[in-house]
Amino acid sequence: MISDITQERAALCAAYEQNRRRSHLLFDLVAPEAYEERPIPLRLPFVFYEGHIPGFSFLTLVRRALGEKAIDEDLEHLFQRGIDPASLADAAAVSPGRWPPRERVQSFAQECDARVRDALRHARLDDPDNPRLVRAESAHNIIEHEQMHHETLLYILHQLPRERKRALPSTHHDRERPPYRRIAVPAGVATLGARREAIPFGWDNEFDEMTVDVPAFEIEADDVTNGDYLAFVESGGEPPPFWRRVGGDWRLATLFDLIALPLSWPVYVTQRQAAAYAQWKSLRLPTEAEYHRAAFGTPEGEERAYPWGDAAPDETRGNFGFERFDPVPVGSYPAGASAWGINDLIGNGWEWTCTPFAPLPGFRPMISYPLYSADFFDGGHFVMKGASPVTHAALTRRSFRNWFRPDYPYVYATFRCVA
Ligand code: AVJ
Ligand code: FE
Repeated sequence: MISDITQERAALCAAYEQNRRRSHLLFDLVAPEAYEERPIPLRLPFVFYEGHIPGFSFLTLVRRALGEKAIDEDLEHLFQRGIDPASLADAAAVSPGRWPPRERVQSFAQECDARVRDALRHARLDDPDNPRLVRAESAHNIIEHEQMHHETLLYILHQLPRERKRALPSTHHDRERPPYRRIAVPAGVATLGARREAIPFGWDNEFDEMTVDVPAFEIEADDVTNGDYLAFVESGGEPPPFWRRVGGDWRLATLFDLIALPLSWPVYVTQRQAAAYAQWKSLRLPTEAEYHRAAFGTPEGEERAYPWGDAAPDETRGNFGFERFDPVPVGSYPAGASAWGINDLIGNGWEWTCTPFAPLPGFRPMISYPLYSADFFDGGHFVMKGASPVTHAALTRRSFRNWFRPDYPYVYATFRCVA
């Protein structure tokens, strides 16, 4: 028992250090003159996130859960929360007239960091008598919160003009798309969510477990590629957000470059564009339950932890975990295929579903972040499953659910169709 707790503490400390290193690497990509810019008008400027990430960790674990004293009430309040507001007016309302100078934000961040690190090393993280520390909830929360922000930071950085970021060298490969296949998945059971005791940590929207009977369906073995989507655009469909028209050709705006459109890469689109393409093909988007059945179901009727089985995720299973910033050709990870032979269900781009983001039966807002999900159960957000190249491997667990508005054009999300 003691050694379990010691191991969990060591893992949390290591994850925290990895997170901080990655945060610094990402903020270093922003040209200093772009620090107060807001490349996604509905999100906040870089300065906010540099304060928010450590500020949130400090507030959640050190102040609220452990009850320690404040560092700077004003900055803690300013950097408390910053999810996508619904309108530009709401975005303006949550921004101060003037941001604190970068040195002040960074010294606040360093102070938060030191206090969080100290708590992770020495404080009691798992305490059944403290609701915020049951099963070390607050510690896990701050680790995964930072990991999610790495991805959303990249969405923002993506929108920044090239001359306002420090580009890292990257290479891109295109090739023939694998032959088009549609896989028949027989009727069966899909398990959504998880039992609270079954996983070390999950966000509130992952509980409780729910079993769904899924009728038979057919699903595309590969994500829809840029090449596939091009035919739709040429017949009048809306061009995807990351495509750019240059002369008579389409190019793709990757994080740092403008490249010839890689026809074998999954197309990144909004949920509305994905649904329009599916309709054009007389097909539709999968439900969340169909995704689960395609990803985790087996012909034998068992369900697996991951598409490939129960082994922990690693870089052989899919394009996730920051191995690179960009997609790769669809079907590049045969070792990641599901039991039905369906590719890239985790990695190479989140997968849009047609399921509105809603609580599972037994939902309870989590004590360490009560509005984490509950704020978004408005019928105006849709569930995304899987992972993108810049999703941390820890977030690829089966019950993890992501969500965005159907017309949000910034996410690394692709799709496949079902019949
Ligand atoms: C779960 C990715 C939709 O970035 O808006 C970060 C995660 N919530 N801080 C977001 C989140 C609060 C959230 N998503
Ligand atoms: Fe946040």
